[in-house]
Amino acid sequence: MTSDLEAPPPRHVCIIMDGNGRWARKRLMPRSFGHRKGVETTRRAIEFFARSGVEHLTLFAFSSENWNRPAEEVSQLMDLFLQSLESNTDELCEQGIRIRFIGDRSRFDAGLRAQLEESERLTRNNRRLTVNVAVNYGGHWDLVQAARALARRVAAGELDADAIDAPQFAAQLALGDCPEADLFIRTGGERRISNFLLWQLAYTEFYFCDTLWPDFSETEMQQALDEFARRQRRFGKTGEQLEGAG
Ligand code: IPE
Ligand code: IPE
Ligand code: MG
Repeated sequence: MTSDLEAPPPRHVCIIMDGNGRWARKRLMPRSFGHRKGVETTRRAIEFFARSGVEHLTLFAFSSENWNRPAEEVSQLMDLFLQSLESNTDELCEQGIRIRFIGDRSRFDAGLRAQLEESERLTRNNRRLTVNVAVNYGGHWDLVQAARALARRVAAGELDADAIDAPQFAAQLALGDCPEADLFIRTGGERRISNFLLWQLAYTEFYFCDTLWPDFSETEMQQALDEFARRQRRFGKTGEQLEGAG
């Protein structure tokens, strides 16, 4: 093993958990079977990244564009989401994991909205790992709601428009209290962001793999962390500057 594995883990990992549908279709099964299998991988990923010392794990579970899927798949996803939270919240709590949801909840039914609040309430004092689950989330939605919040404060005379800077803008985003994402992982072979976090990905390291989400193993999770540890993050500086700094 190389010494780079001793580098500190990323503080904030975000994942586009993609490929459930194709995983199921390869087995001649309905897409919903892949989504159920995907929940098992999600549980393992939460345990793995908690053990690895990551502070924030942001998971893309349902995008604002996923409403465009067939109504039956959308409704199965909502049911699965509710069931998974009902059956896993206690265990998350025992593991010291805090769960929060980012996205526009207004389109969910009352039962699901109540469960989101309940899972957040039960786990809110946990500090080992914070899992941010993005549901009905879109990067555009997030930027627009931040702009609206600032505009309201300007209109109310509480804020000078010229005083708005990047940290103030960032504070209005759904992940306003999180460090920016260090590592982005997308399984399932596509090389795109699909309207996931936009602002927070400005200096993130990207890791794409072809493995479909239900097959994404702890070994591959570790490979993503190892790859991250080998990257030199320059933030605009030269490599020589960083090496000179030791
Ligand atoms: C990701 O898997 C899960 C959700 C978007 C809810 P997909 O359902 O997108 O699976 P593929 O990409 O069709 O294989
Ligand atoms: C992104 O995956 C959303 C989630 C994983 C929840 P999609 O499968 O919906 O993305 P596109 O449509 O292929 O870009
Ligand atoms: Mg997909």
